[in-house]
Amino acid sequence: MQQTTFAIIKPDAVARNLCGEILAAMESAGLRIVGLKRLRLSKLQAAGFYAVHRERPFFESLTDYMSSGPVVCVALRGENAIAAWRGLMGATDPAKAEPGTLRRKYGQSLEANAVHGSDAPETAAFELGYFFNGLEIVE
Ligand code: PPS
Repeated sequence: MQQTTFAIIKPDAVARNLCGEILAAMESAGLRIVGLKRLRLSKLQAAGFYAVHRERPFFESLTDYMSSGPVVCVALRGENAIAAWRGLMGATDPAKAEPGTLRRKYGQSLEANAVHGSDAPETAAFELGYFFNGLEIVE
C-alpha cells in the first residue's frame, strides 16, 4: 500500500550537518521525498506538535529541545512508508536501536535521537498537515 509519512531531522542532527546523509538513507530505502522544508519551531509550535505528550514528564524538555535550533521536515512517499521509515529510524532510545538504524548511528540520547517519524496513518495525516500545505507536497 502506497503511503505518505512525515519525518523530522531533529536539531541535533541538523546542527551536525547530517541532513544529506539522512536524506540519502531515505532515498536508498526506496522512499521518495515529496515535500521538504527547513524551519525553526517556536516553543508554542513544538508544544502543538507534541500535544499528545503534554502530560509526560519530558514534555517541557522535549519542546525546549525541538525549538532550540532548525529542523528539516520531510514528507516521504512509498510502499508502507510509515513502517518503512520507522524501521530505518530504529527504536526511540539510540542505545536500544538496531545496528544500522539512523538512531543507532546518529542519535545521542532519548531526546536528541536525530529523527522523528509518524507512528500511524492518523498521526501522519495530522503531522503532514501541521507542517505542509497541499501545494507543498508533490507526488
Ligand atoms: S511513546 O509514546 O512512549 O512511544 O513515546 P516515545 O516514542 O518513547 O517518545 C515520544 C517522543 O518523546 C521523546 N522522548 C523524550 N524526550 C526527552 N526526554 C525523555 N526522557 C524522552 N523520552 C522520549 C522521544 O524522542 C520521542 O520523540 P519523537 O519526535 O516522537 O521521536
